[in-house]
Amino acid sequence: MIARPFAEVASVGVAVPPRVLTNAELTRMLDTSDEWIVERTGIRERHIAGPEQTVAMLARDAGDRALAGAGVTAADLDAIVLATATPDRLLPSTACDLQALIGAENAAAFDIGAACPGYLYALTVAEGLIASGQSETVLVVGAEKLSTITDFQDRSTAILFGDGAGASVVRRSTAPGRGILSTFIKSDGRLAPLLYRPGGGAVEPISEKVVCERSHYMKMAGREVFKAAVLAMADACDQALRRAGITADQVDLLIPHQANLRIIEATAKHAGLPMSKVMVNVDRYGNTSSASIPLALEQAISEGRVGPGSVILLVAFGAGFTWGSAVVRW
Ligand code: ACO
Repeated sequence: MIARPFAEVASVGVAVPPRVLTNAELTRMLDTSDEWIVERTGIRERHIAGPEQTVAMLARDAGDRALAGAGVTAADLDAIVLATATPDRLLPSTACDLQALIGAENAAAFDIGAACPGYLYALTVAEGLIASGQSETVLVVGAEKLSTITDFQDRSTAILFGDGAGASVVRRSTAPGRGILSTFIKSDGRLAPLLYRPGGGAVEPISEKVVCERSHYMKMAGREVFKAAVLAMADACDQALRRAGITADQVDLLIPHQANLRIIEATAKHAGLPMSKVMVNVDRYGNTSSASIPLALEQAISEGRVGPGSVILLVAFGAGFTWGSAVVRW
């Protein structure tokens, strides 16, 4: 086992667009009901960005708050690692747009494509940059405009997703024992077609056919993804705890990816944690992919559920398939 911690999560900042799309509004667009959505997913509303609000702008708003929270400036950043499934453009990276927007003149910047566990993948990379001596201070971001790849004619996916961003300053650990105690990331690309965007990339570049077939939107085999998510998140919890050398009873709060309340409950049950030790805000934001964990973490901090010394277990699963986890002592 590596001697840890090398790095600490010094702050969290978030941003969500002001526009709220409720279940009631969706029932006017689709053959669905508030009862079905709440019972099957736990989601009541989600935030949707307007055309004028880019992923980089959401990331900037979250990033500015994270920088202020950590008491550092953009010039202090050595790297920006931005996770997103919805980059503003395919070239260059959204991280470079963010670097320019905040004026991080000393930072390397790059995107990570790891879908919902993107924040955990980015955290893992940031820790590695710090452990290797490459960086001292890294901005980790999860930012999404999933509304742009959601098919609002498909009731099985349109109800699930929302937009938002979360960012953290990750820096060399300043206090003994405080920081990232473990990380775990994994993937299984054989299962990609269960949750993917068939069109719009290099395999099937955007064309009239792609748009007519709506294949530039996400397609998901919900039931299969659900089962895989439950298994992978359970395994990821075990892996992160084992690598940190702690047991579940030492965890103060589980912060799972907010995709579906039933997946969250199954994950908590596997970990042996009561729901009173689990952060849930899927009702307010839906599934915001890589932004979901920082959005939940920020709320937990502002509600006083995470404070100095708290041990938190973070876990997520998403398209790829990808999954990951981390244990952090706050
Ligand atoms: N309203 C009403 N009925 C619906 C709706 C809806 N919005 N959507 C589907 N249904 C119907 C289906 O048509 C089906 O009807 P049928 O039985 O007549 O065929 C029935 O409800 C059951 O459908 P299922 O898909 O089996 O429903 P399920 O209970 O599995 O819930 C859901 C669907 C919510 C999508 C669930 O499978 C799920 O959450 N899956 C996991 C999603 C996830 O976690 N993704 C994470 C990664 S996301 C990322 O990486 C970007």
